[in-house]
Amino acid sequence: MIGTWAAPGRVNLIGEHTDYNGGFVFPFAIPQSAKITARTLPGDHWKVTSVDLGETVEATRLEPLTPGWASYVLGIVWALREAGHSVGGAELTLQSDVPVGAGLSSSAAIECATEAALADLYGLEIAPLERAKIAQRAENAYVGAPTGLLDQAAATLCVPDHALFMDCRSLETQQVPLAVDQAGLEILVIDTQSKHSHVDGEYAARRHSCEEACRILGVESLRDVADLDDALGRLPELEGRRVRHIVTENQRVLDSVAALHAGNFTKLGQLMTASHISMRNDYEITAPTVDLAVATALGAGALGARMTGGGFGGCVLALIDKGLHDVVSGQVAAAFATQGWAPPTWFAARPGPGARRIA
Ligand code: GLA
Repeated sequence: MIGTWAAPGRVNLIGEHTDYNGGFVFPFAIPQSAKITARTLPGDHWKVTSVDLGETVEATRLEPLTPGWASYVLGIVWALREAGHSVGGAELTLQSDVPVGAGLSSSAAIECATEAALADLYGLEIAPLERAKIAQRAENAYVGAPTGLLDQAAATLCVPDHALFMDCRSLETQQVPLAVDQAGLEILVIDTQSKHSHVDGEYAARRHSCEEACRILGVESLRDVADLDDALGRLPELEGRRVRHIVTENQRVLDSVAALHAGNFTKLGQLMTASHISMRNDYEITAPTVDLAVATALGAGALGARMTGGGFGGCVLALIDKGLHDVVSGQVAAAFATQGWAPPTWFAARPGPGARRIA
């Protein structure tokens, strides 16, 4: 059998760095995706080609923490085997239009497309949520990035025209209609072209601060912080600000779900902007580029704007009236030019489907 499978990149509407704290996230899939054309090979032989890079990697052994792009593919073979699934060799050819390093989960897209391909090729029955967890294991233990479940869940579980609400503790999910179009609105994704990376120290440092705060407070995860003021009184200043972001961000996700159910986009916009301020001041994961893009979008009339994803650069979401597409993007581009920064790029994101076979 030969076929082609796809999995999307994602944006997170709201709920940042909450996933590894047992909290809430609210992503949706973007139209850009990673596509894998694959067939089985006999024995332990993997031949992985990136059409975009013009490179082929051949492997006969699976070695965690091997640097390089092929680990996002080989890590899935490894993680499937770790989970007890019987997977053999494969030839996998990868092509992706998810921007790399933009905070749009290009890596989870590759992982989840690979997993969809191998599951079908080897006849594996794996429920969607379990697939997301296996892909997360590949990212954590094979690639070596200590991330939560957000990206892989989005790449696997999202459906068109909805955002995916997920409780990262119970792993309950809810598909919430995201009918921005009908409301005359759009979600503009502005790629600031300032690269972000997870395999660096800042993401791990934030995780570490949260674990330290849990230790001081004697809770298993920050989800268990019921009284924020009491917690702030017991924590050092830095950990206090990190915890305040997580606790308030969880509430903002719940409020955003309620706002969408009520069709209240003004409220959603306010929550997005409040999330950005919290990420900037308390969690300290923004960057001058994303801060300027958010401020400019708001100045140009956006209902709300925030950085999305792991942080330290990457993309900004602006909830705008459709008619403001050119005004908002033009003003952000002009503001970047004034700073002498590389020009940003942008697209209007409609929620698309999760991982699937396409040919
Ligand atoms: C990255 C990680 C996710 C999540 C976000 C921040 O995208 O891969 O697990 O922690 O950052 O919300």
